[in-house]
Amino acid sequence: MLRPDSKKHKMEKKLPFSRKRIIEIMADFPTPFYVYDEKGIRDNAKKLKNAFRNIEGFREFFAVKATPNPFILKIMQEEGFGADCSSLPELILSEKAGITGEGIMFTSNDTPEEEFRKARKLGAIINLDDITHIPFLEGSAGIPQIMCLRYNPGKRKQGNRIIGNPIEAKYGFTEEQLYEGYRLLANKGVKRFGLHTMIVSNELNPDYFIDTAEMLFSLAAEISRKLGISFEFINLGGGIGIPYRPEEKPIDLDLVAKGIKNAYGKSFANMRPKVFLECGRLMTGPYGYLITRVRHIKETYKAFAGCDATMANLMRPAMYSAYHHITVLGKEKMPRKNRYDVTGSLCENNDKFAIDRMLPKLERNDILAIHDAGAHGHAMGFNYNGKLRSSELLLRSDGSVREIRRAETVDDYFSTLDFSKLEGFR
Ligand SMILES: Cc1ncc(COP(=O)(O)O)c(C=O)c1O
Repeated sequence: MLRPDSKKHKMEKKLPFSRKRIIEIMADFPTPFYVYDEKGIRDNAKKLKNAFRNIEGFREFFAVKATPNPFILKIMQEEGFGADCSSLPELILSEKAGITGEGIMFTSNDTPEEEFRKARKLGAIINLDDITHIPFLEGSAGIPQIMCLRYNPGKRKQGNRIIGNPIEAKYGFTEEQLYEGYRLLANKGVKRFGLHTMIVSNELNPDYFIDTAEMLFSLAAEISRKLGISFEFINLGGGIGIPYRPEEKPIDLDLVAKGIKNAYGKSFANMRPKVFLECGRLMTGPYGYLITRVRHIKETYKAFAGCDATMANLMRPAMYSAYHHITVLGKEKMPRKNRYDVTGSLCENNDKFAIDRMLPKLERNDILAIHDAGAHGHAMGFNYNGKLRSSELLLRSDGSVREIRRAETVDDYFSTLDFSKLEGFR
C-alpha cells in the first residue's frame, strides 16, 4: 500500500536545480520531462569506487535496463564501469556508448540465438541462466573461452519482498546444475570462469549483500576444489537500494565493502577472483527527476492533482506501490497541510504518483519534481492510451542542459502502422 504521509515525512529532499532553472528549461522542453543530474551521478560513481577500492579487481557493470540511454552509458564508461545487458538493444546501446568486449556482462534469460550471437561478436562475458543453454549457445554462437553461470540458491536464501523467494524465481542454476555446468564447460575447453547471483532488489540492509558474498565465495571455493577449475570473477549482482523516503538512510557502502572483504579473506587463499557488481538503481536512481505540471485540481470525495505526466512515464508507484517523494517547486518552505492524490490522465484508477500525500496547497500549473526516478523510471515507460514517452534531459556538471532523448511524437506512436493499407480493407 502507498502509505499516507506521516509526521516523518516533514523532511524535504534536496534538488540540484531551482524552480527558476526549471522554468528556463521549460521554455525549450515542455513538461513532462526527465532530468538527470550528471554531477550527482559522477560523484556517486566515485563514491562507490572509493568504498570498494580494497576489493580485489572491483568493477561495477552498470545495469543498462535501469537507464537505457547512451549518454548515461557514456558517463558510466568514463567512470570506468562496464555494462550489464539483458537484450539485443541493450547490447547495441552499450556498443554505441563505447562499451565492448569484456566490459559487457550479458545476463539474459530465455535468450534467443541472435542475442547470443551479438554478445559473442562483441566479445561480451556471457552469463548463462540455465544448463540447457550450454548446448544452445554452442549450437548458435559457439562457446567462448570465458563463461559465467547464474546461481539460484533456492531454499538457501530468502530474497526480499520485491524480488520474491529464489525457490519461486525463474532465474539461474540449482547448485547441482552448477557443478554439472562447469564440468561440461571445462570439458568443452572453457578456461576462464565466473559465478553470479542476483537475489534481492532495492535492499537497504547491508547484511543481505555481505551474506550473498559469503555464500558465493564459499561456493566458488568449493566448486574450484571439487572440479579443479579456477574462478576469475564473482559477480554479486545488483539490487542495492536507495532511500526513496526522506526518513530512510542510504546504504553504508563502506560497511558493505568491509563485509565483502572479510568474507573474501575467509574463503580464498590461493584463488584471487575479481569481485563485480551490476547495480542499476544505486547508480542513477537518486539522480533522476520526473518534472510534471499540475493540469487540473479536482475535488470530489477526495482532492486530486491531475498532472501532465502519467504512469506511462513512471509506473513504479502503480506497479509496486512504490513511494516517490514529491517537491512542489517554489513551495518547499510551505507547510504540507493539504491531502492529495497526485494523478495522471490514464484511464486507469491506479494512475497515481501518490495517494493521500500531504503537500502544500496546489494550484494549476504548479511544477512538481518527482524524486528518485532515475532508474527503472523512463525505462519502464509504455504507450497505453496513446500516451507518449517524454524527453530525457541531462543537467550537465557545468549547469547547462542537454537533451539526451527527444520526446515521442504522435508520428512515432503511429510509426508501426501503415494507414494506406486501410484503403480497400473491409
Ligand atoms: C540480472 C540483473 N542485474 C542487475 C539488475 C539491476 O538491479 P538494480 O537496479 O536493483 O541494482 C537487475 C534488475 O532487474 C537484474 O535483473
